[in-house]
Amino acid sequence: MTVLVTGGAGYIGSHMVWELLDAGESVVVLDRLSTGFEWAVAPEAKLVVGDVADRDLVGQIIRDNKVDAIIHFAGSIVVPESVATRSAITRTIPARRAR
Ligand SMILES: NC(=O)c1ccc[n+]([C@@H]2O[C@H](COP(=O)([O-])OP(=O)(O)OC[C@H]3O[C@@H](n4cnc5c(N)ncnc54)[C@H](O)[C@@H]3O)[C@@H](O)[C@H]2O)c1
Repeated sequence: MTVLVTGGAGYIGSHMVWELLDAGESVVVLDRLSTGFEWAVAPEAKLVVGDVADRDLVGQIIRDNKVDAIIHFAGSIVVPESVATRSAITRTIPARRAR
């Protein structure tokens, strides 16, 4: 199975990537590296640097890698920031429907 982990360069996502690899799954990470780090992504995973709001990119990743499942961790941990920049958060929602 191939799993796309958004936010896979972040705190929780990077640990999810290690768990999936340990379980024998193939992993693709989509992360814009705004708070995450390239070094946090396991070398066995494929890292794509980009934004989850980029529908074309998400669709391309799904097609090119034959993605079976998506685990979504790309988000902001800072609640006040999320509220203050609501448009930036909601802008990412259409990406969920990308194919
Ligand atoms: N850390 C916790 O204790 C905790 C607890 C409960 C829920 N959460 C939630 O889990 C999610 C991840 O939290 P975290 O602690 O790993 O945060 P984090 O900041 O370490 O990781 C988030 C990752 O998402 C990436 N990212 C953010 N917006 C993006 C976008 N539009 N496109 C692509 N990549 C993007 C960042 O670069 C980063 O690598 C958040 O939604 C957070 O609210 C975290």
